[in-house]
Amino acid sequence: MSRLSDERVALAREIIGRFPRKKSALIPLLHLAQEQDGYVAQDAMVHIAELLDLAPAEVYGTASFYEMFKFHPVGKYCINICTNISCQLVGAWNLLHHAEERLGIKSGGTTDDGLFTIEDVECIAACTEAPALQVNYRYRYKVTPDSFDSLIEELESGELQGEIPPHGTLGAVRQITTAAWSNRGIEDQAKVDSR
Ligand code: FES
Repeated sequence: MSRLSDERVALAREIIGRFPRKKSALIPLLHLAQEQDGYVAQDAMVHIAELLDLAPAEVYGTASFYEMFKFHPVGKYCINICTNISCQLVGAWNLLHHAEERLGIKSGGTTDDGLFTIEDVECIAACTEAPALQVNYRYRYKVTPDSFDSLIEELESGELQGEIPPHGTLGAVRQITTAAWSNRGIEDQAKVDSR
């Protein structure tokens, strides 16, 4: 449970300055808090409320709406297994039970080494590729117990480090505003626009 560090307060002020209204910086600041502690601590929400001239309840009200914000420590890799209807019809429950057995935890739990958290979630919009899961929001499709085991091994060995960043780093990634990234964004958008 901690307030934002001095370094993050400086970044928070810079982020706030990008918006015409302070309140609009709420989501990026929540990401900063999550990046700092691995979850959004209560004191961090109070600190964010002070920075944005909001009530702490408003900060919590927004943060608690989004599944991506956690209010307790979670693993380095959060594995969201979809158990909604399309995935359920092709083995999602079996997959979830297999995952629980393989990692020795129940859904919602975290392994003792702090590496993995499993959650069963509602539709993650990959129904045509069911059963589907996400690891820190990176998708895996048509997952079987065997491919799940391979995924765990690859994560444990660090093989997927480049593809799947650790939980809580989204805030840092989103704050990269160098010309290179900006230009890439424009080019990508141009491709989309020309379709
Ligand atoms: S039901 Fe599983 S992704 Fe939609």
